[in-house]
Amino acid sequence: MTETLQNLLISRIQKTGPISLTEFMAEALHNKNFGYYTTRDPLGSLGDFTTAPEISQIFGELVGLWILHAHQQQELDGPLCLVELGPGRGTLMSDILRVLLKFENIEELLEVHLVETNPILRQMQQKLLGNLKVLWHDDLSTLPDQPWFLVANEFLDTLPVIQLIKNGDRWTERLIDYDAAGGHFFWTSSGSTSRLSLLISDQVSSKAPDNALLEFSPATLGIFKTIAENTSKKGGAALLIDYGYLKPSFKSSIQAVHDHKMVDPLSNPGTNDISCHVDFQSILYESQFFELKFHGPIPQGDFLISMGINERAERLKHGSSIQQINDINIAVKRLTATGEMGKLFKVIGLTPKDTPTPPGFMT
Ligand SMILES: C[S@@+](CC[C@H](N)C(=O)[O-])C[C@H]1O[C@@H](n2cnc3c(N)ncnc32)[C@H](O)[C@@H]1O
Repeated sequence: MTETLQNLLISRIQKTGPISLTEFMAEALHNKNFGYYTTRDPLGSLGDFTTAPEISQIFGELVGLWILHAHQQQELDGPLCLVELGPGRGTLMSDILRVLLKFENIEELLEVHLVETNPILRQMQQKLLGNLKVLWHDDLSTLPDQPWFLVANEFLDTLPVIQLIKNGDRWTERLIDYDAAGGHFFWTSSGSTSRLSLLISDQVSSKAPDNALLEFSPATLGIFKTIAENTSKKGGAALLIDYGYLKPSFKSSIQAVHDHKMVDPLSNPGTNDISCHVDFQSILYESQFFELKFHGPIPQGDFLISMGINERAERLKHGSSIQQINDINIAVKRLTATGEMGKLFKVIGLTPKDTPTPPGFMT
């Protein structure tokens, strides 16, 4: 059999039986030879999807202002440690830095830490941010022992999830099998009760209809715990932007995108961007455990409008051509309108317990 990700997964299933969605997602996205995020730049019109920082510089500029405000509210000694998880092409960080560097003497204080596993995107980030002090990390474990001012846009949705399905009064795990005759992967169930069902409260379980589906992401919780622990011990702040929910819809949220179109998440592993909605409720509980202030989730459109996207757009339009003005209007609409990214994407903020509500979250 030729070595492809599809064949690798088939042979694993044939040897040991159906695999979990976590394993399927981890391989499809991060397999070191064939994973989606290890083999390409997925962004932009030539890639598979476009993210907010790629739509307009204003997005990153407003995030930069948010960070600056959060930093100024906390009297911290030492460097201003900027951290980004999954920085894509480096566009968001570059726009954040342009705002920060307008302030006197900040350059000596700045340290930029990028958590990125994709070697192709790392190279693009290096090119864009190369003249600044930037350090790359494979994960959060090597980040400095300092307060972090952390941002992540469309990062948590890439982390693997586990799905449980309610069958009568028990919860079984949703698994992936392979149909050799039909030549495709398909969904199946573990048959036996999943130990993870211990995590489901009686209240949620009793409300869930038959065939209800719940998602858990140990990877997201692990990362969020690290962020929350650092913020509670050292200070700093985090701003996370993603699609997600506070109450489970009892439906699968997995989706896959290829060439800007929705495709079957189980088709052609390694060639599609697979993502799941983020469970903000579990993140909220973790923040409460660390006695942090959790802000949001609020719709991206509301956050950007409250941070001044319209005013900034008007400034940018001065001296611009009709074409440029038109482009700015289209970008603002894409980022804020309800039918576009404005409502689907949500913003959450995390600050130490004694800090007031930060800008963007005051309603
Ligand atoms: C959907 S893209 C978003 C890119 C960027 N934040 C933006 O808004 O344009 C996801 C990013 O996270 C990175 N990534 C995905 N999983 C990761 C992981 N487990 N650890 C580090 N980076 C990861 C990808 O390589 C990519 O840079």
